[in-house]
Amino acid sequence: MEEHKKRIFSGVQPSGTITLGNYLGAIRNWVSLQDKYDCAFAMMDMHTITVRQTPAELRKRTQELLALYIACGIDPGKSILFIQSHNSAHAELAWVLGCYTYMGELQRMTQFKDKSAHHEDNINAGLFTYPVLMAADILLYNADYVPVGKDQMQHIEICRDIAQRFNALYGDVFTVPEGLLASSGAKIMSLQDPTKKMSKSDTNPKGYISMMDDFNVIAQKVKSAVTDSEGVIEYRPDDTAKAGINNLLSIMAVMTATTPEAVAVQFAGQGYGAFKSAVAEAIVEGIRPIREEYDRIIQDKSYLSDVYTRGAETACRIARRTLNKVYKKVGFIVK
Ligand code: AMP
Ligand code: TRP
Repeated sequence: MEEHKKRIFSGVQPSGTITLGNYLGAIRNWVSLQDKYDCAFAMMDMHTITVRQTPAELRKRTQELLALYIACGIDPGKSILFIQSHNSAHAELAWVLGCYTYMGELQRMTQFKDKSAHHEDNINAGLFTYPVLMAADILLYNADYVPVGKDQMQHIEICRDIAQRFNALYGDVFTVPEGLLASSGAKIMSLQDPTKKMSKSDTNPKGYISMMDDFNVIAQKVKSAVTDSEGVIEYRPDDTAKAGINNLLSIMAVMTATTPEAVAVQFAGQGYGAFKSAVAEAIVEGIRPIREEYDRIIQDKSYLSDVYTRGAETACRIARRTLNKVYKKVGFIVK
């Protein structure tokens, strides 16, 4: 008998322009997983409203994110692609799991602490229970692996804790998932403050490269990236004084399929200016084919709606099975 393929679930929030960090830390790694695993990738619009959004823009960005997934190489013929809010099982399971999650656990989440500090006027309950909804996303599909960037590992940990707690009470209901970190690119840093991660919510657009930036804007951003005054190209991952150069070396390494150490050897003795030009060019050349695909796909709204409609059908079917099992276990009467 053919062995059952392992399952993968992941997603990105349509909360802003997608950055090079999102691409290198997450989406790019999904592409190669599609043949080996049963994959589902979603646009996490329900998570996005934990921070205020302009409705028309959220709608637009959700479509754009889908077009970008496809342009990056996610194939709707191989993977399930859907919009989180199209599957009500996510909200339903999140309610149940919330009753198995402790306030103390949620209070410890770094992302909650960061986001509350940034949005002091809107520390809403959704922001607090964000990790519970994320656990529901993953557990509904019995995902074995969740490919994400480093910043999401704490959320995977709490998801595992919730799943194990539930299983201990009711038997083996959930697959306990594992986070899958990219071997490189798992944490791309801000170009303006290389001790912080590159983030689309950065108020200074020079800190991040958007997948939608004009190519000459990308070049300018790389050229104005913060480095150091030492003027030496060396990869010293544990030296914070080298954070800027380390980051550019890491980006160059993923874009050219090599290691930061090898890039450092290649550019040893050269000036930062020449190195930055080479990095900018590698980024632009890497993004160019994706952008061409994206520009084509985003025009075809009926194709996009076909993809997410079909995706939601499959996702709902799989998720409902898990949800019914959970409902039975906790004592609900299942219709
Ligand atoms: P988000 O932008 O928070 O929705 O993140 C979507 C995915 O991109 C998650 O898997 C993140 O871990 C990943 N990601 C976000 N920013 C970065 C970054 N600077 N470096 C690497 N991965 C990232
Ligand atoms: N919290 C994730 C992020 O900000 C997005 C996300 C929501 C997600 N649900 C998920 C990622 C489930 C992986 C699996 O990046």
